Amino acid sequence: MKHNLLVIGHRGAKGVYPENTLGSIQKAIEAGADMVEIDVHACAGGEIVVMHDDRLERTTDGTGYVSRKSLTYLKGLDAGQGEKVPTLREVLDLIERRIAVNIELKGPGTLGPVLHILGEYVSRHGWTYDQFVVSTFARKHLKRLAKHHPKVRIGALLAYRPWGFIPFARAIRAYSVHLNLRVTSPRLIREAREAQLKVFVWTVNDPIDIDRMRAWGVDGIFTDFPARTS
Ligand code: G3P
Ligand code: MG
Repeated sequence: MKHNLLVIGHRGAKGVYPENTLGSIQKAIEAGADMVEIDVHACAGGEIVVMHDDRLERTTDGTGYVSRKSLTYLKGLDAGQGEKVPTLREVLDLIERRIAVNIELKGPGTLGPVLHILGEYVSRHGWTYDQFVVSTFARKHLKRLAKHHPKVRIGALLAYRPWGFIPFARAIRAYSVHLNLRVTSPRLIREAREAQLKVFVWTVNDPIDIDRMRAWGVDGIFTDFPARTS
């Protein structure tokens, strides 16, 4: 950790390499990130794959919805610079416990399979639950996590409308709140701190914003350029 600021590589190192690919995650590790953030969807066969959008066009040479495609189809796609769409397991195998992982649940049908995989990596591959944060904007999934999976660190994601968000995050015993830079304020940070919540802010790329977040005392930032924080 640099200067007490947790550096979280956003979609790996999105600013320097195709997002959510093994190469991007490798770049984040090389840049000294403390954690990487990845987005996940379930594909047609139920496997958990790492991708941000629910459709394939923006980040691959495929077309259509990821949830309707087989893993075999997805593995035939180019995710940029010859990279493939990785599975969650492939990402965890690459990281090999060197840094922590924030798994953001994007598509439907991801919560159960992700928790199953994390349980497997804890029981069989030497990971510990404190190396994972599972986050989502979907409040119903956050509540399910809180109710049924107390071992998992919960990251409560906020895009807009901060009113009532910190009490909600506290009620579900979240580990961290992941705040949109646009709504982050000293007041919101103070409120989160008083509720014993870690404050991680996304997506902080401009050096001026990085310095401001540091000055405001946030715990971590998601950044497309993990090397910029050194
Ligand atoms: O998890 C932080 C951030 O990634 C949330 O927004 O759209 O980049 O997944 P998005
Ligand atoms: Mg994300």
